Amino acid sequence: MGIRFDDTNLRARMVGAKHGLTDSEIAAGVPLAAKALAGFRTLYQTGEVGFPDLPKGSDEVDKILDYAGKVKGSYDTVCIVGIGGSALGAWALDCGLRGPHPVQNASPRLVILDNVDPEFIGLALRSMNPKKTIVVPIAKSGATAETVATFLIVKKWLEDGIGAAKAKQRIVVVTSEGRGDLKVLATREGYTTFHLPNNVGGRFSVLSAVGLVPAALAGFDVKKLLKGAAEMTKAAWSDDLSVNTPLRAAMLHWLFIKNKKKPMQVAFPYSNRLWGTAFWFRQLWAESIGKARDRKGQLVNTGQTPIAALGTTDQHSQVQLYMEGPNDKVFTFWAVAKPRENATVPPEKIGLEGFDYLCGKPMSKLLDAERRSTEAALAENERPNCTFTLDRVDEEHLGAFFQLMEFETAFAGEFLNINAFDQEGVELGKKFTFGLMGRKGEQHQQFRDRFAAYEARRKG
Ligand code: PA5
Repeated sequence: MGIRFDDTNLRARMVGAKHGLTDSEIAAGVPLAAKALAGFRTLYQTGEVGFPDLPKGSDEVDKILDYAGKVKGSYDTVCIVGIGGSALGAWALDCGLRGPHPVQNASPRLVILDNVDPEFIGLALRSMNPKKTIVVPIAKSGATAETVATFLIVKKWLEDGIGAAKAKQRIVVVTSEGRGDLKVLATREGYTTFHLPNNVGGRFSVLSAVGLVPAALAGFDVKKLLKGAAEMTKAAWSDDLSVNTPLRAAMLHWLFIKNKKKPMQVAFPYSNRLWGTAFWFRQLWAESIGKARDRKGQLVNTGQTPIAALGTTDQHSQVQLYMEGPNDKVFTFWAVAKPRENATVPPEKIGLEGFDYLCGKPMSKLLDAERRSTEAALAENERPNCTFTLDRVDEEHLGAFFQLMEFETAFAGEFLNINAFDQEGVELGKKFTFGLMGRKGEQHQQFRDRFAAYEARRKG
């Protein structure tokens, strides 16, 4: 497996016993790791949680690839309409496999409409050609207001551009099989539709139709993505902590939450390709372990705030705070051993030492030196940090890395004894929005009333 985890700088011998883990603290965590593994295995075996098996239970990969094969060549843009777990996976994949958006000019282009900012939507529509666009609304619930509203706008734009009959052929829906009005509309209009299993939550769904339909339409190697994920899944069921990287990482991060008062984790990729994945991880970690109550119903208000920082860019923005501000964070660097290309500083010296020492050196060497320097400086300042190194950013490694982090998150939920798979907080915001936007029904009226009471309190 081409992903390595170096936890040396999390240890007391590197950052001191106040902020680092002693051997005895780690030894005390080991039996609990076995318990976390067993606990999650039960959730999986009872069918409560389905991501380890993906894409099983999602519509067959072959059907997705078959669909992508049929429409190939007929579009230059894939317009995804979705939010949260229904958008971030596609962005992480696109950014990882074809590069970050400001500098990539890949075709077919992915346009991801994940916000209801009207100016963003207007700009996006003007940038696309309806004759050359496939529209992919994605919503597990089939009801999220942002997705539904944006989809209606994009649908009208498509119908105005190519006519209602042709538009039907250019819309492909991803949603749950037995729930939500998006599914009802898809059936009524005869849209091609793919499903994701009920026991796979949005933020764990990148390897279901949610991520695989955009991946197949973009032309990524879906089978390699799944191969990498399957390899990691195998490792994640091992009870050997030297093999089971997700379990080891979850145990160490849990010890930092519990013993070392580190309520924040900085995900710090030194790779623009992994920037999308950092935002995907931010949602995964935040929504999964940020919980009010534990499994016994006791109020715990637990979690760890994930922060995304980009190396080296954020060395010149955030690192001053990270080095000298509150020592309340644990840092997780993401490095790439073999970049796909390696711009090199021209070898010709220009007679100025401030330039000449860099001549002839590849940028990967500079990037690597900057990361290792930041790791060392943080360690000197007693700031615990660890590093994941991916050999490459390709389908196989990205599939494995997604699965690594999903398992790590699931295990962290077990260590914390919380349900990592619900999102009551997110649902509450959705319910208020339904009420405020005038959705019919008693349950929505209740939220209108609650909002009116809140407004009254504000007025005093
Ligand atoms: O992880 C989750 O469950 C959420 O963040 C959802 O992905 C997000 O709220 C979007 O939900 P839906 O796919 O139902 O539109």
